[in-house]
Amino acid sequence: MEPTINRGLDGIYIDTSQVCHIDGQRGELIYRGYDIRELANKASYEEVAYLLWHDDLPTRTQLETFRQQLRPHFAVPPEILEHFRRCPLATQPMHALRSAVSMLAAYDDNPDEVSLNNVRRIGLKLVAQFPTIAAAFERIRHGLAPVAADPELSIAGNFLYQLTGAKPTPAATRVMDVALVLHAEHGANASTFVARATASTLTDVYSAITAAVGSLKGPLHGGANTEVMKALEAIGSVDKIERYVLDILADPKGRVMGFGHRVYRVLDPRANVLREVAEKLAEESGESKWFEMSLEMERVMDREMEKRGKQVKPNVDFFSASVYRMLGFPADMYTPIFAVARISGWMAHLLEQYADNRLMRPQLVYQGPVGRRFKPIAER
Ligand code: CMC
Repeated sequence: MEPTINRGLDGIYIDTSQVCHIDGQRGELIYRGYDIRELANKASYEEVAYLLWHDDLPTRTQLETFRQQLRPHFAVPPEILEHFRRCPLATQPMHALRSAVSMLAAYDDNPDEVSLNNVRRIGLKLVAQFPTIAAAFERIRHGLAPVAADPELSIAGNFLYQLTGAKPTPAATRVMDVALVLHAEHGANASTFVARATASTLTDVYSAITAAVGSLKGPLHGGANTEVMKALEAIGSVDKIERYVLDILADPKGRVMGFGHRVYRVLDPRANVLREVAEKLAEESGESKWFEMSLEMERVMDREMEKRGKQVKPNVDFFSASVYRMLGFPADMYTPIFAVARISGWMAHLLEQYADNRLMRPQLVYQGPVGRRFKPIAER
């Protein structure tokens, strides 16, 4: 019988999971049974990280314990900061983050044990250290000294503090929290699959997360938020959006960044929440340009996709770009912010993978030549 090929693993289920469910037809996303819209409205990132690693939301005491467990880990080894100082100026933040995660293994006394206790211990470190790493790199490449975390601040608050050196307002911290909650988890997306597939060889957490960071960086995945802002910056004004979109769609292989999804056939619920956040920020800041351009791009895409009978809607990376712009982040930091959030989801999946592992080893249908005879090099 001919094997079935599912290119891009489209429609393939690799295992069961308790962490996250996506209903792509109804535009629903749940983390362990809780609707993402409710979590984005009401939960902190720490509550969500706890939820992803446990059966349920934490009680007040459990949350305080979780925060205390994170606190000792915010600092990163000084050798990593030294490495950042030596990086060429043009080094992209995602390359820096990926290298830093890989280096962290060298400074861990027990990097290789994949018992659940040890995986959880490393997870706490990584959740605390990702924001420190991303913020420190951003400051160092601009000639600024890294800022040590303030143990009294939340992860969202600390991330803003470590980026800017100023204590963030409650409003900015809340926007950051919402962004982190929305990006924390998303089932078997490419980077999570890569993390699980890497862990399935029973290699260590640092290797699996290094691979995941590399996967997230791609423009078809987490790198799309950076591409969205680069496009908006290059387009420059609302009146040029239509031409830009039509030019891309003139090529059947053209892709407008920030639109489309493998699973959602209707609007990604995270995009809806981020659209509201972007609208509010635009009103409050008076800097409405990026939001207005985004709305125009959505309008033109809706019209053009409807004409073509396709279901291609904005995804999470579309409105997050204008949100981050209005928070003052440079475009190439958007994907590291995604990683700062997604580390909790990756770790939830590694806990599941190591708890009941089976090596992931798919196959390819060979279509190359057969029966060739080896010719000595002088005869080729
Ligand atoms: N612009 C224009 N047309 C699109 C787009 C887009 N962004 N996305 C999908 N389509 C069309 C595409 O032309 C195709 O039409 P046809 O069936 O006639 O060939 C149809 O929709 C299906 O597209 P696909 O590329 O085969 O779908 P996929 O499931 O393989 O790809 C995707 C999903 C996310 C890679 C793709 O939509 C894309 O390249 N989007 C732009 C990049 C992006 O925004 N990525 C972020 C994804 S969501 C968050 C995350 O993972 O980080």
